[in-house]
Amino acid sequence: MSKSTYPLPSRGTPLAPRRKAILVGASSGIGAALAHKLTRQGYTVALLARRADLLQALADEINHQHNEQRARIYVHDVLDHQAVPTLLNRILTDLGGLDLVIYNAGVNLPPEKGSTNVETDCQMAAVNYQGALAWLNPVATLFESLGAGQIVGISSVAGDRGRAGNPGYTSSKAALSCYLEALRNRLSSAGVHVLTVKPGFVDTEMLKAAKRAFWVIPPEKAAGDIYKAIQRRKQTIYTSARWGLVMLILRHIPSFVFRRLKFLA
Ligand SMILES: NC(=O)c1ccc[n+]([C@@H]2O[C@H](COP(=O)([O-])OP(=O)(O)OC[C@H]3O[C@@H](n4cnc5c(N)ncnc54)[C@H](OP(=O)(O)O)[C@@H]3O)[C@@H](O)[C@H]2O)c1
Repeated sequence: MSKSTYPLPSRGTPLAPRRKAILVGASSGIGAALAHKLTRQGYTVALLARRADLLQALADEINHQHNEQRARIYVHDVLDHQAVPTLLNRILTDLGGLDLVIYNAGVNLPPEKGSTNVETDCQMAAVNYQGALAWLNPVATLFESLGAGQIVGISSVAGDRGRAGNPGYTSSKAALSCYLEALRNRLSSAGVHVLTVKPGFVDTEMLKAAKRAFWVIPPEKAAGDIYKAIQRRKQTIYTSARWGLVMLILRHIPSFVFRRLKFLA
């Protein structure tokens, strides 16, 4: 899409000051924690995911807490790229504008030790990376035409190096991080902010797939770090922050050494 075909979002007025956000992958874990964080900070949110029951329970909780409709739900599978333009249009109309889009949807489907699985690797590429293209390309066009807006992608520390144990996941997150950097390079001169988030281990359903975990943080801590980075218009953050130093070192280890560090695989 070369030119925005969406209704222009409001920039906020004294009568309607609430900021508006879309959260793709909002039904559990970091996404659900972000929904709570954003609404506590005054946002109205559109919550997207496949599990309608979880989305409904989350929206009911938020709307009850705030005593008004602050969360709306949209049942959506990010594999359905065709649905995105119409759904984006519908959400823009429902919310009456858009300030922030967070692409958080992700799956981690590690192969059995020593084996490969084309089906699950392609599924990870489709959800973790291609779904981001389907959502963030039209959002980027919209925000660029407005000269405003914030885009956040939830990548992973796993995308910083090629990990032997789960090539499908690590490469899907590397592709996402690279795509987000490209978006930032394209959009920053237009006044659009793009944030890449690289969590370490976060205590969510996804962590069950990890062979080992340490420095585990609750999703609320990750959501707090992400919100702070949105406010401060950071480019890339690690959550928790200590992963920034660890990954700085790991990124500089030559490949022939890295592949011998079996505990990192
Ligand atoms: N937990 C960690 O340690 C960790 C570490 C690094 C990065 N991350 C990243 O953080 C993000 C959030 O994960 P989480 O840890 O909070 O795990 P989670 O609780 O499993 O959340 C994953 C979210 O993605 C959504 N999703 C998955 N497939 C989808 C699809 N086809 N269509 C629409 N939505 C889909 C899920 O919703 P439905 O299933 O309802 O569709 C859910 O809301 C992911 O991108 C993950 O890769 C997590």
